[in-house]
Order: sequence, then structure tokens, then C-alpha cells
Amino acid sequence: MLPSWLCLAALLPLLLPPPTPAGPPLCPPPCPCPTSRSLLCREPGTVSSLGGVLPGGGASRLLAEIIIEKQPLLTALTRADTRMLRDLRKLTITGSGLQHISDDAFQDTPRLSHVNLSFNALRSLSWKPFQHLPLQELILVGNPLSCSCGVRWLQLWQDGSRAELGNQSLGCWAGGVLVPLGSQPLSGCEPPTVRIEHPDVALRQGDSVNLTCHIAGEPPATGDWLVPDVGSEPPGVTKVSEGELVLEITNVSSSLNHKELTCRAENVAGPAEDSVMLNVTFPPVILLLQEAIPQHFWCIPFSVDGNPAPSIRWLFNGTALAEGPYIHTRIMEYEHNTTVLHGCLQLNRPTHVNNGNYTLLVRNPLGAAARSVWGRFMDNPFSFSPEEPIPVSLSPLGTRNSSLEGPVETMDEHTFGVSVAVALAVFACLFLSVMLLVLNKCGHRSKFGINRSAVLAQEDDLAMSLHFMNLGSSPVSSTESKLEGLKSNFIENPQYFCNACVHHVQRRDIVLKWELGEGAFGKVFLAECYNLLPEQEKMLVAVKALKEVTESARLDFQREAELLTVLQHEHIVKFYGVCTEGEPLIMVFEYMKHGDLNRFLRSHGPDAKILEQGQGQPRGQLTLSHMLQIATQIASGMVYLASLHFVHRDLATRNCLVGHELVVKIGDFGMSRDIYSTDYYRVGGRTMLPIRWMPPESILYRKFTTESDIWSFGVVLWEIFTYGKQPWYQLSNTEAIECITQGRELERPRTCPSEVYDIMQSCWQREPQQRQRIKDIHSRLQALVKSPPIYLDILG
Ligand SMILES: *[C@@H]1O[C@H](CO)[C@@H](O)[C@H](O)[C@H]1NC(C)=O
Ligand SMILES: *[C@@H]1O[C@H](CO)[C@@H](O)[C@H](O)[C@H]1NC(C)=O
Ligand SMILES: *[C@@H]1O[C@H](CO)[C@@H](O)[C@H](O)[C@H]1NC(C)=O
Ligand SMILES: *[C@@H]1O[C@H](CO)[C@@H](O)[C@H](O)[C@H]1NC(C)=O
Ligand SMILES: *[C@@H]1O[C@H](CO)[C@@H](O)[C@H](O)[C@H]1NC(C)=O
Ligand SMILES: *[C@@H]1O[C@H](CO)[C@@H](O)[C@H](O)[C@H]1NC(C)=O
Ligand SMILES: *[C@@H]1O[C@H](CO)[C@@H](O)[C@H](O)[C@H]1NC(C)=O
Ligand SMILES: *[C@@H]1O[C@H](CO)[C@@H](O)[C@H](O)[C@H]1NC(C)=O
Ligand SMILES: *[C@@H]1O[C@H](CO)[C@@H](O)[C@H](O)[C@H]1NC(C)=O
Repeated sequence: MLPSWLCLAALLPLLLPPPTPAGPPLCPPPCPCPTSRSLLCREPGTVSSLGGVLPGGGASRLLAEIIIEKQPLLTALTRADTRMLRDLRKLTITGSGLQHISDDAFQDTPRLSHVNLSFNALRSLSWKPFQHLPLQELILVGNPLSCSCGVRWLQLWQDGSRAELGNQSLGCWAGGVLVPLGSQPLSGCEPPTVRIEHPDVALRQGDSVNLTCHIAGEPPATGDWLVPDVGSEPPGVTKVSEGELVLEITNVSSSLNHKELTCRAENVAGPAEDSVMLNVTFPPVILLLQEAIPQHFWCIPFSVDGNPAPSIRWLFNGTALAEGPYIHTRIMEYEHNTTVLHGCLQLNRPTHVNNGNYTLLVRNPLGAAARSVWGRFMDNPFSFSPEEPIPVSLSPLGTRNSSLEGPVETMDEHTFGVSVAVALAVFACLFLSVMLLVLNKCGHRSKFGINRSAVLAQEDDLAMSLHFMNLGSSPVSSTESKLEGLKSNFIENPQYFCNACVHHVQRRDIVLKWELGEGAFGKVFLAECYNLLPEQEKMLVAVKALKEVTESARLDFQREAELLTVLQHEHIVKFYGVCTEGEPLIMVFEYMKHGDLNRFLRSHGPDAKILEQGQGQPRGQLTLSHMLQIATQIASGMVYLASLHFVHRDLATRNCLVGHELVVKIGDFGMSRDIYSTDYYRVGGRTMLPIRWMPPESILYRKFTTESDIWSFGVVLWEIFTYGKQPWYQLSNTEAIECITQGRELERPRTCPSEVYDIMQSCWQREPQQRQRIKDIHSRLQALVKSPPIYLDILG
């Protein structure tokens, strides 16, 4: 009872015009309403028809129970009386004068389940008013039923224990004597029998067929065919004789499959029916084939029809698609009353190599059909194709054979003027590097008088730089040095760690979609995460999965998660939590769809071909204003880290990520050392140092401080304004170390206004204390964003 009540409560606003004060006052005088859902007529002799005592204004529709007692004037019940009682479940009319109930009396009360008609004046009662009701109880005791064929159905219901009739000691009057109903033989009174003669021929769509229904009954029965509406021309029914009805269907439609064709007959003793289903064969048709939609798995949805059920095959770019665990056809649902099959070509983590032309082929013995759809799953998320090596040659001059310019500028299809400019630049760089080589690399004498071998010797045991977001899983450092790195940063700041606040995500809530990249620590995936934020059922996230799970790796993982939980800022990549159920251990991060900033800069340089990106993305080349926005956002994140006395140690554009609408955040997945290995200088076999981003004191004395991060920020600015070139790209690592330690500065980039170059230079002060504070740098950048300097390219 309770659930239906709850349902009703939910339906109330729908059933009622909102402010209906349905309640006791509305019920007319003889019949009060104890509740808004029941009506009680107990005052004797006051009711002559049920319809006359119902409350108005829609309140009747709410009534679930009606009790009427001792109303001799109430003699008939018709459809007009019950028309408004759509929700009626219990009806009691007892001790009254009820003699007649019309066949359609309960047509509008489809939920009526309990009917108590005890002690009325019913002499006969047809089965018809009750046949469609979900009757659980029909109480008829105390009625002067006469023993006629009209009550035969009550005997049958009693025998079948339907509607609690079996328990009631009902009697009927035969020749002035009351006899028990159950023992009263009623001869020549049975419900009819119905039999459909089934045509034993295979039917094809468009054929004609005659179905004959044989009806026998005593007393005589009437019958009819009930045919579902299937759209085509209506079948004809011919009455051949009293007991034979022929249904003639011309042009049989395939939509008749799985549908019942029913022949129904009835007489006073009851109804009967028989049904057949036709098997109409037809060649397959493709009803629907749509572009792939991203679900848990990607799905190319299709609907096909055909009888016999067609085979389903696929072509990809014109050749047969081999199905396997990652790509396979899945039939999602059968509709029980049609032959239509709905399904998906399901693709588990498709990548850009799955982009192409998908052709659906369906075939059965009667024919075949084909249709194609274009599948587009992703643009390469890192824009580097995984089959090829990274198409960026960052090898410094040491290898001698790489281009002097970054890759962005190698393919020059621009105007003559630009070519000249580039040629000039190339020449200038060549000249510069030759000069550098000639003039003892940097053209300066070392201010510190340190020779190269001394510098390098000291580096061998430089502490591993703390890789932001990658504390626990760096490929290059031993566990000891990792923990050392942690300690050096946080030993005085235990508040960075918060064991209890790490959010745990359930494994079943993470659905991996495809791989974003791989590092020595493991892999990074794009995934869908369910139930992460209250306002979104599911969302895209980046998931970092740890390859090996040793005890110490687990410990590092835990510490890293605790730290990341604490670091929350709008320009720090958001960390959502961990999943430690089973393996691999997983960290869940915000997904930044444009990948790392270095790649983004390179692909938006002057010669990068215009990338097709989503709306709201800057297309083609970045403008000065874009660059200032990027720089300001990174500065904002660095202000935050500095306020926590957190030293990043590896700030570089490769370790920032770009999201929607040019949002830039500090953070990475620890893949830089694998992807951007040329940005690091390998010392002592294991340690990799980003020397090109490091200030002299970090290179020389392993000092990493907030001030050394500021130096790196200056280099990041330089990267931004060169569209992601490698600092000192023209020098080998050892040459770069020498230049940096001897005090040379990176050149002003071609597109860089002097206001911005001033900021860079204020980051590159030799004395850490003289470097401008990151807070002030942030303010200066903010001011520049508001009123960008007008800049004329000196070479253009
Ligand atoms: C039917 O109504 C009679 C008379 O009011 C009552 O005695 C009897 O209990 C009712 N039966 C049921 C099942 O409600
Ligand atoms: C009908 O009989 C069954 C058992 O035969 C019993 O459980 C049930 O309560 C009876 N119902 C009434 C209304 O007497
Ligand atoms: C169906 O019956 C009609 C006449 O009743 C007849 O003309 C027709 O040929 C029959 N069709 C088939 C398929 O037997
Ligand atoms: C048969 O029905 C189909 C539609 O179900 C219709 O397109 C076709 O023209 C019909 N054929 C004839 C011969 O009536
Ligand atoms: C329908 O008929 C075809 C051809 O005779 C047969 O292959 C198929 O199994 C039948 N389908 C059903 C549901 O009986
Ligand atoms: C897809 O492939 C099918 C079959 O190979 C071909 O008929 C169709 O033209 C192709 N469609 C596109 C858009 O290439
Ligand atoms: C098929 O069955 C569903 C559910 O029983 C029903 O809603 C739908 O109307 C039926 N379709 C046809 C064409 O009979
Ligand atoms: C499929 O065809 C499309 C368009 O011709 C092409 O871009 C794609 O690389 C092809 N895929 C494969 C795997 O051949
Ligand atoms: C560049 O170096 C690679 C190997 O490092 C070599 O195969 C290639 O021939 C060189 N190219 C030139 C132009 O020297």
C-alpha cells in the first residue's frame, strides 16, 4: 500500500490544479470526507445516486475509497456515476438497493481492486463490468442472485479462487429456494471456445493471408478480430458463418511481426480469445546509423530490422573490421514486439587512429543493406602522433645537425619579407653561436672564475629536483632522494600533509577512455569519473596510474596525495583524489584538454598550421594579449605556491597545462622527463636537471628556493614569447651551464615588448634577493594585460 501512496503523493501536483483545497468542507452534507481521499455515506436513505454525492472541483479525482451504507434509494450504478473517480481503489456499497450495474460502470476506474457489494438487491450481475479491473476482492454475499446462466461466471471464478469469491458462501435462488451457488448445475451455459486456424506457409512482406477464427459456444457467442494498428491498410474481416470469422490481410506488413492478432468472443457466461503471431520475413533494412557518441565506451549507434534477424558486419575505411575486445558490435535491446535490433559498435578507448569511414553491412537470406557513417573520436590529444617520434627536434647545438630554429620556424612558407627576416634571424643565430664558440662560449670571462669541470663535478650529486605532481614516482631518483626532496620542502611545514582529507574515489566510478601518455612511472589516461562533484553526474578527468606498487611507492603515493590535496588554487591543476582499491594506484586530476603549454605554444606559433580546435579557442597564432594572459595565470599560481613556501624546482611551460578558453594551470603528470628529455641534463646516470631553467646558484650550489623559482618564471616568460622555444636551444647542455653561470641572459624574443623583457630581466638578477618578488611580477603582468603595450616588431 505504501509505495502506491507515495506514487500518488508524487502525482498529486499533476492531478490537481495547484491550490485546490480538497478537504472535508467540499464534500456535500450527507457524505463527509474523513480525509481528502475517502468519502463516507452512512446517513440512511440520503443517497440516490453515487454521482450525486461526489464532491466537485476535481476533488473526486483524488478519492481512493468510497463507502456507502444503507441507501435503499441507490439502485443503479453507471459509468456516469464513476466517471470522475479515476483513482478509486475501494468501493463499498452495502445494505443498499443496488439492482443494476451497467457493463461499462467501471470503465473509468482502472485501479479499482476491492469491491464490496454485500447485502444489496442484485439478482443478476454480468462479468463485463469487472473484466478489465485488477480485482482482488469482490464481495457479493447477501444478494438475491438467481440461478441463471448469467451467474455461471461466478461459479467459474469461485472454482478459480478469483477475487476472494471462493471463500464466500454465495447462494442463488432457483424456483423460490436458495441453493449454494457452487452446487447448482447450470447446463448449456459455458463461455465460448475460440481457435485460429494458422496458415502453415512462410509469409513474405507484401503477401496476402487469410486467417480463420472458429468460434463455438452455448449460449451463442459473438466474436471479432482485434488487430494492432500497424500503419498499412486495415485488414478486412469477413463473417463466413455463425462460427467462422476470416481475417483477410492483403500486403502483409513486416511490422506485424511479434504482434498478436487476437480473435475474441464472448457470451453471457464469459469471454474467450485466441491469438496468433505472424512470421513475416523481409530483407534487412538499416533504420538508423549515427555518429559516434561518447558513452562509457564510445558507441556508434544503429538500428536494423530484418526477418530472419540479419547478420551484422562492419567495414572500416572500406576493409572488413576485425572485431575484438576493444571494438565489437553489441546489441543493446530487443523490443519484444518488433524485430528491430538496436545496438552499438562499441569502441573501447578509440583514438585518432580509429577515425574513419565506418560502414554497416546487414544481410539475411532475403537481401542485404549497407550504410556508412564518419567516425571521429579524437584529435590527437598531444598532437604528437604516438607512432612517430616527437616531431620536435630540441637537440641542442651539441649534436650539430639539428636545425638552429625551433620546429615552429623550420617550415617557412611565408612571404618574401618574412623569409628574409627568418634568414636574417638564422644568420644572426649562426653568427652568434659561432661567436660564442670562438669567444670562450659566452664571450665573457667568468665572473666567478669557476672552470667547467668544477661545475660539472659538483652537479653529480645534486639533489633530485622536486618534480611537482610527481613526487612519488619520478623515474630518475631513488626512494631516498625522493623523500629527501619532500623533506627539504616540508619538514618545517607539516601542515602541508593532511592524511584525512584525501578524497577517495571508487574504482567503479572511473571509466578509462584512452591513454593520454606514458611515463616511466606508469600511464596517464583520459577517463570519465562518476559521482565526483555533486553538480555533475560524470565528468572528464585525467587519471594517473602508477605502474609498480611497491610498499615504498605506496607510501610516496600517499604523501603526494596528501600534499596535492592541500594545494588548491585556480591556477594549480586540480587534484580530485585517489583510488587505492586494487591496482594500479590511481590519482584523479582535472582534465586540461589542450595538453601541456609548451606543445600548445609551439602549435600556435607563427608557422604552425591552424589547428582545428573547439570553439572559444584562439585559432592560429597567439597574440600578445594571449601571451600576457598565459603569463599572468602562471604568475598567479606561483604567487600561491610562494605564499605556502612551496618551491616548485621545475617550473617550465612543459609542466603547465592548458584547458578550455586558454585557462593555464601549473601542474603536470610527470611525463616531461620522458617526453621532453632534451630539456633535462642527465647527471650521474639518474638525476635529470632542467639546467636551462635554473639560476646559477641552483646549478652551482643546489640551492632551490622561492627565488630560484622566480628565475625559472623569467625563463617561462621567455618560452611564452618565443612560442615555446627551448632556452639556449643553440647551445649544448654544458655550454648552457657555462653561459648561465657566467651571467649571460637570454636574448629578447622577437615578439617581446620591452615592458615584458624588463620583467624577465628582473627575474634574472644574479643575487636571489635582488630578484623581483613574484607578487610584484604578477601585478606588473596584470597591469600589462589591462593595457597591453603597443609593440612594433623591429624586424617585421
Ligand atoms: C463488506 O461490507 C460488509 C458490510 O459493511 C462488511 O461487514 C464486510 O466486512 C465487508 N467486507 C470486506 C472484505 O470489507
Ligand atoms: C479466504 O480463505 C483463505 C484460505 O482459504 C484465507 O486465508 C482468507 O483469509 C479468506 N478470506 C476471507 C475474506 O475470508
Ligand atoms: C482470402 O479470401 C478471399 C475471399 O474470401 C480470397 O479471394 C483470397 O484469394 C484469399 N486469399 C488467400 C491468400 O487465400
Ligand atoms: C504495401 O504496403 C507498403 C507499406 O507497408 C506500401 O509501401 C506498398 O505500396 C503496399 N503495396 C501494395 C501493393 O499495396
Ligand atoms: C520465420 O520464418 C523464417 C523462414 O521460414 C525462419 O527462418 C524463422 O526462424 C522464423 N521465425 C520465427 C520467430 O519463427
Ligand atoms: C565510406 O565507405 C563506403 C564503402 O566503402 C563508401 O561507399 C562511402 O562513399 C564512404 N564514405 C565516405 C564519406 O568516404
Ligand atoms: C511494444 O511494446 C511496448 C511495451 O509493451 C508498447 O509500449 C508499444 O506500444 C508496443 N509497440 C507496438 C507497435 O505495439
Ligand atoms: C581512414 O580514412 C581516413 C580518411 O581517408 C583517414 O584520415 C584515416 O587515416 C584512415 N584510417 C586508417 C587507419 O587508415
Ligand atoms: C643527422 O644525424 C642523424 C643521426 O644522428 C644522421 O642519421 C643524419 O644523417 C644527420 N643529418 C645530417 C644532415 O647530417
